Amino acid sequence: MAKPKYSSPKGIKDILAPESGARRALLDLFSQEAWLAGYGEIVLPMFEEVGVFSRVGESTEIVQKQMYDFYDKDERHIVLRPESTASVMRAFIEHRPTLPWKCWYEGAHFRYEKPQAGRFRQFHQVGIELLGAEDPVADAEVIALGWGFLNKAGAKIKLLINSLGDAASREKYVAELGKYLESHLSDLSDSAKTTLKLNPLRVLDSKIPTDMKVTSEAPEMKKFLSTQDTDHFQEVCENLKNLGIEYELAPRLVRGLDYYTRTAFEYVSVDLDIAHDALGGGGRYDGLSESLGGPECVGVGFAIGIDRTLLAIKEKISSEIATKSLDVFIADLVGDSALMIAMELRSVGISTDYSFGRRSLKAQMKQADRSGAQVALIIGEEELEKDSVSLVELRKSEGEMREKSEQDLILRSELTSEIRKYLNK
Ligand code: HAM
Repeated sequence: MAKPKYSSPKGIKDILAPESGARRALLDLFSQEAWLAGYGEIVLPMFEEVGVFSRVGESTEIVQKQMYDFYDKDERHIVLRPESTASVMRAFIEHRPTLPWKCWYEGAHFRYEKPQAGRFRQFHQVGIELLGAEDPVADAEVIALGWGFLNKAGAKIKLLINSLGDAASREKYVAELGKYLESHLSDLSDSAKTTLKLNPLRVLDSKIPTDMKVTSEAPEMKKFLSTQDTDHFQEVCENLKNLGIEYELAPRLVRGLDYYTRTAFEYVSVDLDIAHDALGGGGRYDGLSESLGGPECVGVGFAIGIDRTLLAIKEKISSEIATKSLDVFIADLVGDSALMIAMELRSVGISTDYSFGRRSLKAQMKQADRSGAQVALIIGEEELEKDSVSLVELRKSEGEMREKSEQDLILRSELTSEIRKYLNK
């Protein structure tokens, strides 16, 4: 095939069926899980004024380097959303829903990253935010929802959890961490040296082996936590234990955005490469509302990347998260009733397709097989005369097609009920 004149923008891919089917199944599963737990959907704008995001990560790569920003025709400084927590908080401050407020979202997000496996410039997130509850049970509920979703989706994950404390204890910790990292400067990569100047916490995020060697010995946050934060964290852990959710304490886990306080967690795939093994993550962000000019309001939530989750469950996609295949394919040899029958079957929930342009039986049956349909209906002169259609079961057993002689002649008036018998619907 000749190179097309246009292709999708760098770092962004088209998603075609059947992969899009598995993606849709994941999104449906997530909305179901969120609904079961009392979360209502929030539909947010794809872009916001720059201020909504700039405050949530002044020292982070996401805000410093990865934002898609531009000036609109009225000279407003606009950003394509790199994440949704700040937008949810902006919406809370604007609309003041009753607290506690539980919402979920899904949609495309944008980060100007170096494209590579599991890292795209446009990616899809699902997430929940729970505002107005300081109770550690809220943290546990949020963590459990993401954990349950990923498990149901078939991803093999580890749950990593840490407490980042409040702003005061973190300041002390950052100072101590900074001193430690300065004393190991010669062992750090150039990018870690640059990060260190901006925010020592971010160095803990480096996936470069030499940096990881240094950070694995770095001081831990735990020693700097206040009694209240230590107790809060312990209660979160207790609640997870009671729910039978296994977790790993990760004393140096930090997150890629600046707004986190207290609980921070990540769902890590055991099947993906370390560079992109975080399927999702989140935590508490008490103080974010105030930093956006809102009232005092605590919050906890997570976001999960759907593109990465799909990579992590690649093997399972064809079986357990079965992509919905077509029910019926009509091979119309006469050429005037396929659309009518298709509309009739579709109206009762039987997915139906057919071919255009009156092709030969062989060509149409080939298309029927390719379509993944369970049964084919053949309409020829003979069938028309008898006011019937011939039904061929295409997938009696995996990939095996029955002989044409095994067709069953079915009366048009009994078509729906007969097809349902074959489809078990
Ligand atoms: P985050 O860790 O930046 O958190 O992103 C969450 C997930 O989005 C990641 O674990 C990953 O699966 C996916 N993701 C991020 N960047 C990319 C990319 N370039 N390509 C593919 N997937 C990506 C947040 O966004 C926070 N807002 C989560 C949160 C909600 N915290 C509290 N509430």
